[in-house]
Amino acid sequence: MKTTYYGQSTVAIETGDFKLLFDPFITYNPLAKDIDVKSFKPDYILVSHGHGDHVADLIEVQKNSGAKVICIAEIANWLNGKGVENVHGMNIGGAFNFEFGRVKMVNAVHSSTMPDGAPGGNPAGFVLYLPGKTLYFAGDTALTYDMKLLEDENIDWAYLPIGDNYTMGADDAIKAAAFINCKNIIGVHYDSFEVIKIDKDEVREKFIKAGLNLKLPAIGETIDL
Ligand code: NI
Ligand code: MN
Repeated sequence: MKTTYYGQSTVAIETGDFKLLFDPFITYNPLAKDIDVKSFKPDYILVSHGHGDHVADLIEVQKNSGAKVICIAEIANWLNGKGVENVHGMNIGGAFNFEFGRVKMVNAVHSSTMPDGAPGGNPAGFVLYLPGKTLYFAGDTALTYDMKLLEDENIDWAYLPIGDNYTMGADDAIKAAAFINCKNIIGVHYDSFEVIKIDKDEVREKFIKAGLNLKLPAIGETIDL
């Protein structure tokens, strides 16, 4: 299984014959200027919430690829209204068996409005039960004790926001790693805007001191999970 980081919270996962893409935000991210959004051909797009830095390229990528979008019901309805029909709406606490694996939508503590002001329902995270690996994509979230509910899920890798200001920062992400009982963390949602710029060396040091394996892949870099 492989994962590629594209900046902010945009990540791809290749599992079996399937390509999953999370929270596409490329065009308006100067840090991702070398990434060609037209080259994205996912089979599924998972959307955590409606903010622009998670959905800016959603409709374009969906139209280019025909991917099925997995998201909360309100965003599913919003997409239907924009002419996107290949959508699978879910809600918090629900799971569904897709052809690539099982996805459970879980709580995130944040807000969610679509770029045009339409309501985006509740923000969400995802637990993915994939062949051989269980992953957690936290979405934009504060540290929340709900994460403790995941401690027995045998999560192999977790994508956690670490940029602070809009989401939890590194110190709370380290607590989140303890709540979910997972040592392998991929940091996301940092450096794209002035207020979420981090000192990577300082953050790496904190995670090492906590006994955690933190990966901060470069934009466009692929790593094995
Ligand atoms: Ni957000
Ligand atoms: Mn965000």
